[in-house]
Amino acid sequence: MAAVSDFAIGLVGCGGMGHRHLRSYGALRSVGANGFKLAAVCDPRREAAEHAADLVEELLGSRPAVFASAEELIASRVVEAIDLVTEPSIHHQIAVPALAAGIHVLSEKPLGVTVRACREMVDAAASSGAILATAENYRRDGPNRLARAVIDSGILGDIHLMIESNIGGDNGVLISPWRHLREKGSIALDMGVHYTDIFAYLLGDLERACGVAFIAEPGRVLAGAMVSGGEVEELAPGVMRATGDDSLVALYETAGGALIQLTYLPSGPGRKWIQRSLHGRNGSMSVPFDRTGGAVVVELGERKLSGAELRAELGDFRLHGVTADFFGPEGTEYELPFAEVDAATIAIELDDFIGALNEGRAPEVDGLGGLLAVAGVWAVAESRALGGFVQIADIADGTISSVQDPIDAAIGLLTKAS
Ligand SMILES: NC(=O)c1ccc[n+]([C@@H]2O[C@H](COP(=O)([O-])OP(=O)(O)OC[C@H]3O[C@@H](n4cnc5c(N)ncnc54)[C@H](O)[C@@H]3O)[C@@H](O)[C@H]2O)c1
Repeated sequence: MAAVSDFAIGLVGCGGMGHRHLRSYGALRSVGANGFKLAAVCDPRREAAEHAADLVEELLGSRPAVFASAEELIASRVVEAIDLVTEPSIHHQIAVPALAAGIHVLSEKPLGVTVRACREMVDAAASSGAILATAENYRRDGPNRLARAVIDSGILGDIHLMIESNIGGDNGVLISPWRHLREKGSIALDMGVHYTDIFAYLLGDLERACGVAFIAEPGRVLAGAMVSGGEVEELAPGVMRATGDDSLVALYETAGGALIQLTYLPSGPGRKWIQRSLHGRNGSMSVPFDRTGGAVVVELGERKLSGAELRAELGDFRLHGVTADFFGPEGTEYELPFAEVDAATIAIELDDFIGALNEGRAPEVDGLGGLLAVAGVWAVAESRALGGFVQIADIADGTISSVQDPIDAAIGLLTKAS
């Protein structure tokens, strides 16, 4: 990376993912990447912020300033960029004033809890000229980079169909209670944006969608001391009422004419079904579950290609930059502990953001990319309400928003006058 200065970054939100981001800054430093310093951490939970500051000191050698409020952090002018890792329902509340103050923002996915929230962020960035990036880690994984190269090579021929399935789970809270609260960003949105981003990454823009978003498991069992981010109603002791969708069954059509069948159903203690496959006129490709390092397998009639043979077929495919630093230039298959893979994929997205700051270029996933991923998920519930296919463009520009409107009203983005 051509570093011209050390951008002062502030981490806002020191929960589970905030701490994972910090380990990724440490991982970046360990492969010699520079161009940044962690100047501040911020969380109203003082203990979490202090813990994060300790970790920064341990990993990067200097202790950042600690803030309890994002407003104070923005006003302090201590940072030039914010790494925003709070629950999604408040991303816009923090990002919009930061961007208006000329502070660059990398926001965790989902960019916002609704399309309207995302639009506020995208518009604020456009007005001030500050960079808005969306943190999307799945696409940075070596196998997904290889899958994209396979598609770009054309060896599969025209792609007719992609199947994305993640089915099976239990009735436990998925990571944190806010992921089951409609106005806080449900797990269907939280996970769904990873998939809609992957669809756009592999197959280009989504054009239309129809499907059903629903709550498959209405009572979620709370475990231990979870960060909530919202009030929960208990159906029974230790069991919270889920108000946000946890499941998606949808059909998408891309601008290029490919169909994508998505099933996300993270409950039901039966067999776990995981599949990402693409089916073209000349053959098929299966892509392993994200961050497991399995093989991408291409089947062209009798020919079955993977590993070195597949890379050779693509003209000696290699990973580059920090991706190669973490996984090796041929590291599209790996056996690494999850913590290491997780830190690496997040570090790659952080490095892209830092590169964008230093080079004054757009990040790989910008604000609009994050907005479109959110629109792709909300399109499913909006289509159900309207009883047919919806155009993603109509969701993205706010023409269709009736399902999201009550959420926008609840979080103050939609008043009677607007
Ligand atoms: N890409 C991935 O693989 C991945 C994985 C997990 C989470 N995430 C994303 O990261 C984000 C955070 O998720 P999490 O699991 O860490 O949530 P979390 O609930 O564990 O942490 C959120 C933190 O934000 C803090 N916070 C709340 N209000 C704040 C404010 N006004 N200012 C500063 N801090 C505030 C909370 O106190 C908490 O510590 C979400 O957008 C989530 O979707 C992404």
